[in-house]
Amino acid sequence: MDERPLIETVAAGIAHEVRNPLNALQINVRILEQELADWIPDREAHVYSVLAKITSELQSLDNFVADFLRFARPPQLKIEQVHVRYLLSDLATFMAPECGKKGVKLLLSLEKGPIVISADSFQLKHAVLNLVLNALQATPEGGTITIETEQEGAKLAILVRDTGEGILSDMIDRVFDLFFTMREGGTGLGLPITRRIVEEHGGSLSLASQPGEGTTARILLPARGEA
Ligand SMILES: Nc1ncnc2c1ncn2[C@@H]1O[C@H](COP(=O)(O)OP(=O)(O)OP(=O)(O)O)[C@@H](O)[C@H]1O
Ligand SMILES: [Mg+2]
Repeated sequence: MDERPLIETVAAGIAHEVRNPLNALQINVRILEQELADWIPDREAHVYSVLAKITSELQSLDNFVADFLRFARPPQLKIEQVHVRYLLSDLATFMAPECGKKGVKLLLSLEKGPIVISADSFQLKHAVLNLVLNALQATPEGGTITIETEQEGAKLAILVRDTGEGILSDMIDRVFDLFFTMREGGTGLGLPITRRIVEEHGGSLSLASQPGEGTTARILLPARGEA
């Protein structure tokens, strides 16, 4: 009898039955493209746009499977001392061009002094990145996203505030449901993954929103990882 939770069994099945053939397909499309070059040197030929479409659909499927596996089989946390100020500054530097392209300002408002917590820096960065991506997707040109930190007693809050479209009050609880999305091209995995990462750190994730005015996502973490 398999003692694992159902979702992990499903994930193992997907990893094996979907991911392997998917990767083989990606490799074979690449080989096909290389071999075709000898037969059809004209890169503008219709067949290349068909191949590009196949490659891009395979990539979306691969991203979806990777996200699902991340949700279903969370990796062991690698806990270390994390300098939150550096982590968030790096993230802002990484995201600034993407925000700039859309005409959205990305600001950092961090407390003074060092903010050090026990966390898995890769996972924590991934969690905040998901929130910044959601904020960017919801914020029109001219808007602002602010990443803030606040010390709340023994806890540390990381806030991602946007001036975007907001979320209707009857939707706010559903946004954490697996596969719930209101975005074309969305998979509805971002918030469930983010909540899972934060909870594994002994923290919590909540959203507050004012439709038409914006949304604030709030990660609350045990400040020194004493969970
Ligand atoms: N900051 C935000 N402002 C407005 N709506 C939001 C915000 N964050 C999340 N949402 C809503 O919650 C839904 C679920 O978010 P979630 O990140 O889980 O999935 P997604 O962004 O649709 O897809 P992905 O898996 O690519 O992240 C979004 O489709 C969006 O409608
Ligand atoms: Mg998302």
